[in-house]
Amino acid sequence: MTHIMGLSGSLRRASFNSGLLRAAVQVAPDSVKLSPGSIRGVPLYDADLETEQGLPLPVQDLQQGLAAADGLLLVTPEYNNGVPGVFKNVIDWMSRGDGLALFDGKPVAVVGASPGGFGTVMAQAHWLPVLRTLKADLWTGGRMLVSRAATVFDDDGNLTDEKTREMLAEFIAGFAKHLNRN
Ligand code: FNR
Repeated sequence: MTHIMGLSGSLRRASFNSGLLRAAVQVAPDSVKLSPGSIRGVPLYDADLETEQGLPLPVQDLQQGLAAADGLLLVTPEYNNGVPGVFKNVIDWMSRGDGLALFDGKPVAVVGASPGGFGTVMAQAHWLPVLRTLKADLWTGGRMLVSRAATVFDDDGNLTDEKTREMLAEFIAGFAKHLNRN
């Protein structure tokens, strides 16, 4: 069984990106277990808090999830042509403690959805220097940019468009194949 950890970078209830992650869980091949991690409850990074109290429990949970995963799927919204601070904050926390070792060489894939016409292309590119710094193994064998999200998700953020689900299934299968390459 191939284990992928998925993270959506949005806290919005009807988030397109959380919906995209839910759909990814549904369309993943039988041989793949895609486990969504929760970014809820992660405080803003504060070095004093870290010194005084260590890593917050939600961060420790996320690190354990990453340690147990063969690969990481980032499902990123785009804010002002970049990575949302909420999401970057989570990855920054996860890189603390023994976290750098968890990212080192870890295969990572990035997808995203936005209501505009460019489907998070800038945010996905914005992740590159972060992933390089973390020495992650970015998988570039597939591309998934969900644009005009309001037309393919319902009001609850569920992916309703069959063609997009097929593209997502192909993306996840390709990433899983990469994880099983050895
Ligand atoms: C946005 N949004 C947005 N969308 C985009 O495609 N490019 C962008 O640069 C921005 N910029 C931006 C800035 C800020 C501060 C907000 C709050 C929003 C719109 C964004 O894609 C939209 O809110 C999505 O619904 C966010 O993703 P979730 O929460 O639906 O997953």
